Amino acid sequence: NQATIVVLGSSNVDLITYCHEFPKNGETIMATSFSQSFGGKGANQAVQAAKLSESPNYVAMLGMVGTDTYGRETRDNFTSCNVGVKELKEGKESSGLATIQVDSHGENRICIIPGANYELQPTDVSSMTSTISSASYMVCQFEIDPLTTACGFEIAKSHGLTTVLNPAPAAPLSTLPPGLLSNTDYLVPNQPELSLLSGLPTSTVPECVEASRSLISTFSITTVIVTMGSSGSLLVTSTSTLHVPCPSLPSPLLDTVGAGDSFLGALVYYLSRGVGMEGAMGKANGIAGYSVGGKGAQTSYKSRDELPEEFRI
Ligand code: RIB
Ligand code: NA
Repeated sequence: NQATIVVLGSSNVDLITYCHEFPKNGETIMATSFSQSFGGKGANQAVQAAKLSESPNYVAMLGMVGTDTYGRETRDNFTSCNVGVKELKEGKESSGLATIQVDSHGENRICIIPGANYELQPTDVSSMTSTISSASYMVCQFEIDPLTTACGFEIAKSHGLTTVLNPAPAAPLSTLPPGLLSNTDYLVPNQPELSLLSGLPTSTVPECVEASRSLISTFSITTVIVTMGSSGSLLVTSTSTLHVPCPSLPSPLLDTVGAGDSFLGALVYYLSRGVGMEGAMGKANGIAGYSVGGKGAQTSYKSRDELPEEFRI
C-alpha cells in the first residue's frame, strides 16, 4: 500500500552521554551514563507518526544511509517501526551520526555529522515521484541538502500534497534555496528558528505573531505553528492567532532530545487523519509531553497501544 505521509529527511545514530552538568571548555568530567539509539530529525518525525498509526506503511522515509552497519540497523529500525523504506537509498558516505550531551535538567547539546544524509540529491528525489504523488503530506527539515528539500517540495506541490517544513536546525533565510518557503504550506519552527529565519525577535507571543506574519506575507505560507516548549504551541495565519497551551507534563522532565520531532510527527499524523488544526495541535502537545519523560528520541515515543483513547485516531 502507498504511504499517506512521506518524510524527506535525515536519519542518524544518536550517541548520547548523560552528565550532571555540561563540561566547561578544557574540562573532563565523568558522565553518569551512555546510550546509543536511532535519531535524526526526519527519522524521528517519521517514527513518531508511524507509532500513532495502526496501518503499516502509513509513513514512508525518503532519505539516504551509508553502506555500513549503522545504515543496515537504521533500515531495520524503520521496518520494525512500520516506516516504509522503499525509498531509503544507500550512499557512499558513512551513515549520519549525532553526538549528544544531556544534563541533569534534561537540556541537550547536539553535534551532527550528516554523512550520507547530504548525499541525497534532487535527481534521487525525482526518481521517487510515484511514491510522493500518491501521498497527502510531505514533511522536511534542514538536515539534508537544502536543494534536495526544495526539489521534494516542488514535486510535492505539483501533485497537490500539503507540505510541512520544520526549519531545524536553525538557519538564516539567506541560506535557503529560492522557492523552498513559497512551496511551504505549514512552517513549524521553535522560537530561535523563527527568529533566525525572520530576522525578528521572538521572545513573546506578540513578537512570534509579528515574525510569523512577516514570513507569511513574503512567501504566502498558509500557516506558521510556533512550538514554545512547555508553553505549548502558537498558530498564526494572516488573519488569526491561536495559542494552544501544553497539558501539565505526564511525567518528570528527563530528556528533551527529539521532543520537537515528536510534536511534528504527531501534528502531521493527526492532520492527515482529518483532525482539525486546533485539535491536532493539542494532541501533538500531549504526545510531545510524553516524550520528555523518557530518555533519547525515538526510544521515548509512545505507540498507539500505550496511549489513552483520545490519542488513538
Ligand atoms: O531533534 C533531535 C535529533 O537531532 C536527534 O535525534 C539527532 O540525531 C539530531 O538530528
Ligand atoms: Na525524550
